Amino acid sequence: MNALAAASVIRLLQTNPNAVLGLATGSTPLGMYRLLVEAYQVGKIDFSLVTTFNLDEYIGLNADHPQSYHAYMRTHLFRHVHIHPERTHIPNGTADDPDFECRRYEALIAGSNGIDLQLLGIGANGHIGFNEPGADPCGRTHVAELTESTRKANARFFTGGEDAPRYAITMGLGTILTHSKRILLLAAGAHKAEAVYRMLKEKVSNDCPASYLQTHPMVEIVIDQGAASMLLETAHEK
Ligand code: PGA
Repeated sequence: MNALAAASVIRLLQTNPNAVLGLATGSTPLGMYRLLVEAYQVGKIDFSLVTTFNLDEYIGLNADHPQSYHAYMRTHLFRHVHIHPERTHIPNGTADDPDFECRRYEALIAGSNGIDLQLLGIGANGHIGFNEPGADPCGRTHVAELTESTRKANARFFTGGEDAPRYAITMGLGTILTHSKRILLLAAGAHKAEAVYRMLKEKVSNDCPASYLQTHPMVEIVIDQGAASMLLETAHEK
């Protein structure tokens, strides 16, 4: 799974060194980032002209907080490759005016000539970015309240007696669907099987925000056996 996902990014950077990448965080893409760092170390790819936009950031965590997505990106990719900090974009979770920050971020993406490849994970509740069930399908970058299930899923990272954040700034579904030229979604594990099934097999609805990917013309989905298990079961029944 990691090799397939990394190969897609590597091919893009080799054909377009100026590519704009949309980046995701979480456990799922970690193996892919490791392979991208290895590909950089052996000279297969170069990040010096690459621009990146991350999907989201927690409100209230500054860039130095170890669980911030700023820290995640530094730890797993940015500090291992030669990438210009001014070309890496992540919403500022401690902006004085979060709504202004959302508009600033959306305008930066809109001014980028489009995201060549947007990486996505999927939540067990079908969220993409922090677009939780019920999210506005046309929504742009906005402040989102995390559902209880998402906060529970994220609590594993906040072990020091600290609560998982309640709010985040996230690209909206509209941001992702209109600005991404291609999308690559990764999912691993049986706990994602239902979300993957709903994303692909159910009617498009914001009960499962990922189902809106059915409306995008260029989506690649890379999943492991566990995440595919409901699709496989129903295929066997037919
Ligand atoms: P995970 O998160 O990769 O940590 O499972 C994915 C998501 O919630 O979007």
